[in-house]
Amino acid sequence: MQAFENRLRAALTDVTGLPADDLRIENPRDPSMGDLAFPCFVLAKARKQAPPAIAAELADALNETLEGIEAVATGPYINFRVDRALLAETIIGEIEAQGARYGGGDEGAGKTIVVDLSSPNIAKPMSVGHLRSTVIGAAIQRIHDALGYKTVGINHIGDWGIQFGKLVTALDRWGAEVDLESDPIKALLALYVRYHEEEGEDPTLAEQSARNFQELESGADGHVRQTWKRLTELSMREFDKIYTRLGVTFDEVRGEAFYEPYLDATVERIEAAGVTEMSEGALIVDLSSIRKKMPPCLLRKTDGTTLYATRDLAAVFHRHELYDFDRCLYVVGGDQRLHFEQLKGVLKRMEIDWEPKVEHIAFGMMKLPEGKMSTRTGNVVFLEDVLDRAAEEAGKIIAEKNPDLANAAEIAEQVGVGAVVFNDLKREREKDIQFVWEEVLTFEGETGPYAQYTHARLASILRKAEAAGEGDADPDWAALEDAAPVIVRLGRFPSVVRSAAANAEPSEITSWVLTAARELNAWYTQHRVLGQDPAVTSARLRLVAAAKSALAGALALLGVAAPEEM
Ligand code: ARG
Repeated sequence: MQAFENRLRAALTDVTGLPADDLRIENPRDPSMGDLAFPCFVLAKARKQAPPAIAAELADALNETLEGIEAVATGPYINFRVDRALLAETIIGEIEAQGARYGGGDEGAGKTIVVDLSSPNIAKPMSVGHLRSTVIGAAIQRIHDALGYKTVGINHIGDWGIQFGKLVTALDRWGAEVDLESDPIKALLALYVRYHEEEGEDPTLAEQSARNFQELESGADGHVRQTWKRLTELSMREFDKIYTRLGVTFDEVRGEAFYEPYLDATVERIEAAGVTEMSEGALIVDLSSIRKKMPPCLLRKTDGTTLYATRDLAAVFHRHELYDFDRCLYVVGGDQRLHFEQLKGVLKRMEIDWEPKVEHIAFGMMKLPEGKMSTRTGNVVFLEDVLDRAAEEAGKIIAEKNPDLANAAEIAEQVGVGAVVFNDLKREREKDIQFVWEEVLTFEGETGPYAQYTHARLASILRKAEAAGEGDADPDWAALEDAAPVIVRLGRFPSVVRSAAANAEPSEITSWVLTAARELNAWYTQHRVLGQDPAVTSARLRLVAAAKSALAGALALLGVAAPEEM
């Protein structure tokens, strides 16, 4: 639709004298009113006229010059209706020309977006929150990639803190009793739980752990650091299994430990800005001037050790220096709102001018079903089990619906994982979501499998056309009048991608996918594609192919596979 919008803006500039950039073309709230609309309010002041009068006058003037677009004044709006044949030929032509790049662009060229995503903690199972961060963050990164931004996805692994002192202690005491190799995360979790059970009775545990962490922070390359390294490697191996299944890669994997060498300079820089003070032996930044009740940001504890916030401050300076970002997005759960408010608060107090570019991209919680739905150890849900179960359930549905499917196991994985990912991206990210197995996997609801199934049905129509040798005739574009809503929807995809990027909101793409899938299903159940007048079949096939391509492109941005058959 951008091509039409540009034409309208140019035509409106001609008749109003206003610069094209000031003219906002909208989507009419009611699609039956038209494909695009121009609200005339902006002109009222200069023209000293009521908007409806302006609309009527301009519509007449525009109809003199516009070809293939009809302007109709409706109250203060001018609604535009694009000639159906022109609409079909233009939009389908754009999709055909751009292929998998349709919806993308290059307006991001020269701009850099840093995305902090996933960021699980070593020696613990990756949580559902980390899954959300991974899936939402990776989608945000892909959306920006498609628009030509330079993007840097950083996995900020939680590999630092007193808990590693504790784990080393636990490993030294009881390591021989657990099997670290075959299931490291479960073994480490068990050690951690045992440590906390015994810590109360045995004060030497806490003393040892404090010494261990001090040694770790000292940088000495001895037993403690070696053990910590091993823990990190074992954990990363487990995380990588999940990343592989999700198809997510990172540009940088930088644990909090990476920033250790930068901590002193970071603290000095903040001190030099004159915003620090001592409070009960600790070094803090008072933030009450930013927001009345905001607690201070703690930079260094009494014992000299640093904190999560100190390391995030070091990281944000490092990122700014390295990438000079236009936006630095932290895709982290809403439960860390205060942490990021404090991070930005410190930057504000330092009068750092790029502070507004640092954004917490918060998301809500995902509630998993209770009980035997998931394997639990203590209170922990293992993501691998969730993905396994999803693939298994998808396999059952496929076996029922399509028993002859060739590579069924591979497709079951794509559908199962796709279902989990899509479910995570379905609602506005700040909302909490429920995970209900039956709803996540159904082929008919607002789900990933439904979108994938729509794509596969389009693919099947194309295969049948190929086999029947149909689709060679010149298309009768006017015959696609009955598909206008679908075509307009396809035409809006590029602006949906731009909006999703600006709002860091992948759910705008999921919504588009679901609406497009619904409209496509409605259209092709009412209109046979094959075996019509050859010019009609050709036109419908071109639409089917374009829709399939756009749908696959949208799913790719979300990180959901688009199998040809399922
Ligand atoms: N590891 C942290 C956690 O699990 C999340 C880190 C998010 N990223 C950041 N730069 N703070 O809570």
